[in-house]
Amino acid sequence: MCVFISRRLFPKSGAKFALQTLPMHQNASSPRSSWTSRLGFILAAAGSAVGLGAIWKFPYMAGTNGGSIFLLPYIFFTLTIGLALLIGEMCMGRHARGGAGTAFRKLGGRAWGWAGLLSVLTGALVLAFYSVVGGWTVHYLVEACLGRGVAEDPSTMRSAFEAFAADPVSSIGCHAAFLTATAAVVLCGVEKGIERVSKILMPLLFILMLVLIVRGLSLPGAFEGLRFLFKPDPSAFTGEALLNAMGFAFFSLSVGSGSMMNYGSYLGEEAKIGSSTTWIVLLAILASILGGLMIMPAVFAFGLSPDAGPGLTFATMPAVFAKLPFGHLFAVAFYACLFVAAITSSISILEMSTQYFVDEHGVSKRTAVVGVSTVLGLLGILSALSFGPLADVKIFGRTFFDLFDGFTSNIGMPIGCLSIALVAGGVAWSATRGELAKSGGWTQGALKAFRFVLLVLGPIVILAVAGKALGLY
Ligand code: ALA
Repeated sequence: MCVFISRRLFPKSGAKFALQTLPMHQNASSPRSSWTSRLGFILAAAGSAVGLGAIWKFPYMAGTNGGSIFLLPYIFFTLTIGLALLIGEMCMGRHARGGAGTAFRKLGGRAWGWAGLLSVLTGALVLAFYSVVGGWTVHYLVEACLGRGVAEDPSTMRSAFEAFAADPVSSIGCHAAFLTATAAVVLCGVEKGIERVSKILMPLLFILMLVLIVRGLSLPGAFEGLRFLFKPDPSAFTGEALLNAMGFAFFSLSVGSGSMMNYGSYLGEEAKIGSSTTWIVLLAILASILGGLMIMPAVFAFGLSPDAGPGLTFATMPAVFAKLPFGHLFAVAFYACLFVAAITSSISILEMSTQYFVDEHGVSKRTAVVGVSTVLGLLGILSALSFGPLADVKIFGRTFFDLFDGFTSNIGMPIGCLSIALVAGGVAWSATRGELAKSGGWTQGALKAFRFVLLVLGPIVILAVAGKALGLY
């Protein structure tokens, strides 16, 4: 979900952070706008965080990585290094008044130019699998509208999902529809309309999730799902689960992949980066926990397998809807909200990736949107076919879908985060400190503690987790 930013969105003065003429990144010809309000910024950045990650990815990652042994490290990583990295990323964006391509070069020097490019590439590659899952929401929304969103017999749901995902025409068609809709919004500049819709549908999504959680928890056997999520089980601990938890923490915060640096570049001088970022992190964690509470008790109550993989959410929800009065209506409302949450996140990713080519290479917005969407659309076809004809084609033991997912969360984002730690906490510390000082409230002790987490703890944790996952110790 995302409350969208664009120069078009903030054309008028009068609001707290009204349009300001700010120093801009190199090739831009118009002034960079800033957020109209603190709440607008928090909602937008939290919106980038809360998307399919919380509702689709968190439950299945928890399901395949030992439940609590995934959840607890995820919360730890998010609240410690995730928060510090996000603050560092925002500071870099605001100081440089540009996205990752500009910010790394400006703050770290030419030698760090590659890190900006890698962040943008990582963010863009997220769309190569994200839009396939976005396509699944399109399919399930259509099915729900046709009165087929409810399944009385839980045992048929998984096979129904597998049959749909394996069908090349359906899955490529839905992926294409989702990506085309994303590109159309970015191209036609109708983000403001999407923003208005998402302001209504996002709170609605949270309310629907709460109702579904209450219903799920009242099913016989649901308690096992809670135990799976919250009771620590050291026997399930593996280096890979730890890496997945860290990767998901970065994915869910959208840190280390360009988007948040872009958001930071639109922040007004008086914005309180520390407190706003803390809100964003708390909302992201809340959304993931709600996602887990919505799916996992139901999975256990229906006797489904928690390690069913990426289809878990879609294969579980129809049976929960069947247990509700007006289940069909519920299904339509839920998938509509999920679709909006997904597309607003994908819009922010596509906007960030295309803006890179506009800012850094002087390409027109239209060419950038068409070019980037076409390349991601083609890569997305490989992801879409990973559940059908290409299911047995593996690179490094992974399907294309898993490869894009694994590369972005477990390689691209950690490297992007390491780079942020070293630039924001190291070579450009004076700029970071200056950005934080602008909003006040940072004592010397708080600054020291923040820098320690960013520059020392962050890299140690990232490298230690990577080493464990690689079996180095
Ligand atoms: N952070 C975004 C999500 O979780 C990509 O959906």
